[in-house]
Amino acid sequence: MTVVVLLAAGRGVRMRSERPKVLHEAAGRPLLDRVLDTAKAVAGRSESVIVVTSKEDSSKKDSSKEERTVAAHLKANHPGVRIAIQDPPRGTGDAVRAAAAAGVFGKATTVVVLSGDVPLLSAEAVKGLVDALKKDKKAAVAVLTATLEDPTGYGRVVRDKKKSFVRIREEKDSSNGERKIREINTGTYAFDRVFLEKALPLLTSKNSQSEFYLTDVLSLARKAGRRVVLVSGDPSSALGVNSRADLARVDSILRRRNADAAMAGGATLLHPETITLDEGVALGTDVVVEPFVALLGKTTVGSGSRIGQGCVVRDTVLGKNVTVKPYCVIESAVVGDGAIVGPFARLREGTELAEGVHIGNFVETKKAVLGKGAKANHLTYLGDTEIGERTNVGAGVITCNYDGFRKHRTTIGRDVFVGSDAQLVAPVTIGDGALIAAGTTVTEDVPPDALALSRAPQTNIAAGGAKYRTLRGAGKKTRA
Ligand code: UD1
Ligand code: MG
Repeated sequence: MTVVVLLAAGRGVRMRSERPKVLHEAAGRPLLDRVLDTAKAVAGRSESVIVVTSKEDSSKKDSSKEERTVAAHLKANHPGVRIAIQDPPRGTGDAVRAAAAAGVFGKATTVVVLSGDVPLLSAEAVKGLVDALKKDKKAAVAVLTATLEDPTGYGRVVRDKKKSFVRIREEKDSSNGERKIREINTGTYAFDRVFLEKALPLLTSKNSQSEFYLTDVLSLARKAGRRVVLVSGDPSSALGVNSRADLARVDSILRRRNADAAMAGGATLLHPETITLDEGVALGTDVVVEPFVALLGKTTVGSGSRIGQGCVVRDTVLGKNVTVKPYCVIESAVVGDGAIVGPFARLREGTELAEGVHIGNFVETKKAVLGKGAKANHLTYLGDTEIGERTNVGAGVITCNYDGFRKHRTTIGRDVFVGSDAQLVAPVTIGDGALIAAGTTVTEDVPPDALALSRAPQTNIAAGGAKYRTLRGAGKKTRA
């Protein structure tokens, strides 16, 4: 059996953040969640994964009220995963001690250790490490290394003349010669559990950071005549996030991967380097995404749809052959097949557009359900409303859904014509086939097929315009 320890304590000082480092997001997902995917895949079940975290101030919340502590995040999103508190954090070796003290190692044969801040590591690479450990009877530990162009900041793998492992040296403790070594420790290990438990109490903090280094367990293995197996992995799997610049690098790599996957799946991305795709985004075949589009959260786009330049779409389902023209902002909406939206439209949460609906420029919808073929093409606010099939909502129509205290609903039937600049003061119901004259303020229900009209009668005063100009001292002005 394999137990996976995921190290997520420590201050992450180089991030300069109130938020724990591992809860920072890359491609729309916390770093910790990515490493947890790997951890769960390697352990086979959540109960064999233990996350080491520090004692945190749970009263801290960010502006979005999202829980900010690692423990709270785990409880909410990863039931079953165990938590060990390291208080205070005194290094990676001390962190694994905290996990051991939590009593979850049991009779496990192998203890895998992963870092919460190394998010691009694949489960396959870790499984390879476990296999390498098991293959070698004398091995106490297998460690994943990588050879980097720029090894700055990482622990270096020091070998002797015969290329055998000697130790891992942290950059802060290393000599100038050692700093030139480009082979680094990725912070990913598979330990023989029995050896690990013997070695952990022997760690000391005699180093430049006064920390208990997990890497010293490897030196202890060598001294005990046990083998340290070095497995060299691909450089991107080593990328550790210690700073905001590292976070940006990981984010770009993941987004690039998402873009490549989308293109491999048959979507066209125009200037893909400008397009932001979160990991939960799924694009159908023959989807076209124009430049500077952000598709975020859990968004799916049906085949044949086109998303115009500069749109931001979050947690939304777009059907097939949908056209979203440039510069729309869409959030938590469902858009039916063949619908046309924008340019400059805003679809807010709870918007549901049936097949073939048209939403035009400067239209805002919220909790608005529009039936097949309904149209609202210009300058309109539709909130808390249901609109029947084929109904046409004219320019400037407003559902007055808020009375200053509460929200109210507007129900509009099928084949209704709502004239321009009408105000529908909710709660109000308009029957099928009704006609609302332009400029009408609807305050009472309108029966089916009725004409609703509320207008002050118009008066034309002969030469009144000319007289007005004279009065204002602009008498010479003539009409163009
Ligand atoms: C560590 C390794 C280094 C390796 C690098 C790879 C050690 C001594 N060094 O250095 O050889 O090249 O990772 O990325 O192990 N953590 C705790 N408790 C602590 C301290 C850290 O849980 O007391 C966690 C952190 O949250 C992080 C991980 O352990 O996820 C690594 O800690 P970090 O401080 O980033 O170590 P590095 O300096 O990156
Ligand atoms: Mg690190």
